[in-house]
Amino acid sequence: MPTRLLLLLCLTAHVFAREPPEVDCLVVHLKYVHCSWNKQGTPEVNYTFYSQFESDKVFSECSNYLRENNTNTGCTKQPYQKGQKFSSFHTKLVHGKQITPKVLGLKTKVKLNPPTNVTVERRRSDSNLWLNWSQDYVGCVESEVRYRVNNRKWENNRVSTAVQEYCVNLPSSSSMYELQVRSRIASGCGESVFWSDWSQPVVWGSNNSTADAKPTSVWTPVLYVVGAFILILLVMMLLHHERIRIIFIPVVPKPSSDLHNIEDWFQFPKGLKESFKYNEHPCLVREYCHVSQSDSEACSVFMPGNESDLSTSCSSSTSTVSTEEEMVSV
Ligand SMILES: *[C@@H]1O[C@H](CO)[C@@H](O)[C@H](O)[C@H]1NC(C)=O
Ligand SMILES: *[C@@H]1O[C@H](CO)[C@@H](O)[C@H](O)[C@H]1NC(C)=O
Ligand SMILES: *[C@@H]1O[C@H](CO)[C@@H](O)[C@H](O)[C@H]1NC(C)=O
Ligand SMILES: *[C@@H]1O[C@H](CO)[C@@H](O)[C@H](O)[C@H]1NC(C)=O
Ligand SMILES: *[C@@H]1O[C@H](CO)[C@@H](O)[C@H](O)[C@H]1NC(C)=O
Ligand SMILES: *[C@@H]1O[C@H](CO)[C@@H](O)[C@H](O)[C@H]1NC(C)=O
Repeated sequence: MPTRLLLLLCLTAHVFAREPPEVDCLVVHLKYVHCSWNKQGTPEVNYTFYSQFESDKVFSECSNYLRENNTNTGCTKQPYQKGQKFSSFHTKLVHGKQITPKVLGLKTKVKLNPPTNVTVERRRSDSNLWLNWSQDYVGCVESEVRYRVNNRKWENNRVSTAVQEYCVNLPSSSSMYELQVRSRIASGCGESVFWSDWSQPVVWGSNNSTADAKPTSVWTPVLYVVGAFILILLVMMLLHHERIRIIFIPVVPKPSSDLHNIEDWFQFPKGLKESFKYNEHPCLVREYCHVSQSDSEACSVFMPGNESDLSTSCSSSTSTVSTEEEMVSV
């Protein structure tokens, strides 16, 4: 019995070992083709790999194997010519007499290298933060920028095809900005499903602001509301200042009041009467300060002129590049 079981185990193991692995391929930066067949783990046998684009005449064997524990797991640096991603890619995994063919479409499987020369600076002209970078195949590439302030959540934003800059509106120099960019082939040129990896982060601003280190307490909004309420109360008290003074002061008479003060008490209704006759001067709000000669009590508030000329919001010029040409050549 045990020998039979062992035989069965051996047979099943044998069958599983021969189950051919799946081949997956990518066009790396439109420069070469990279394939691998170890998604389900390192295969137990050494496969030989052959490939060809439809346009090629013959299969060629892989010349740059990737290995794990001395077993072939992939093939990289396979030649790629411009525009070949639009034709089908034929692969063959060979082990002894077993041949496993597969045909792949690589149009959407292009993975670019991350953008390079990423720089960030605050432009004097508009006080905004500008990020720029280099990427090959400009006219066919769309990008995505992500940034975070003081290590908080990342915020992602798309950048249109052919644009290689991004603007962050009026940054605060007391915060730390960390920015990254990635790119991929845009829809006009056979959109890729793969984004490049993120570029190395670039940092702008102050690294160590202690104010933002603490997470904001749940009581903060409550404090704001209470503060606003007190402020409104104060303003109302100020507006009704005259009335309040007249109404409140006589309510608390001095305990040591003598007879003379009683006389004052009787004058109170007269004061109250006056308060009803009280006439407030209207407050003039003007752009420029006027010194009124006739009425010295007329107040005027100086309103500064429109300052928006000093800083402008982000506006990116989206250049429209004809991608038709690129579509043929890439
Ligand atoms: C290589 O083999 C060793 C032992 O045989 C194993 O521990 C290791 O995980 C293997 N590595 C890979 C990448 O398969
Ligand atoms: C796979 O092939 C390589 C090179 O041909 C060889 O060095 C290695 O020993 C082989 N591994 C196995 C498991 O046969
Ligand atoms: C990017 O930087 C490298 C090295 O710093 C430089 O050689 C290259 O010219 C730069 N490329 C662009 C497009 O600025
Ligand atoms: C990024 O902007 C800086 C300053 O405006 C400029 O010197 C640099 O060449 C730009 N880099 C790229 C890659 O466009
Ligand atoms: C910020 O500064 C701390 C030390 O003050 C350092 O450990 C950390 O790496 C810095 N972070 C960045 C993004 O520069
Ligand atoms: C930030 O930290 C650096 C050292 O890590 C220190 O030299 C610098 O003064 C700090 N800046 C502020 C604004 O605290």
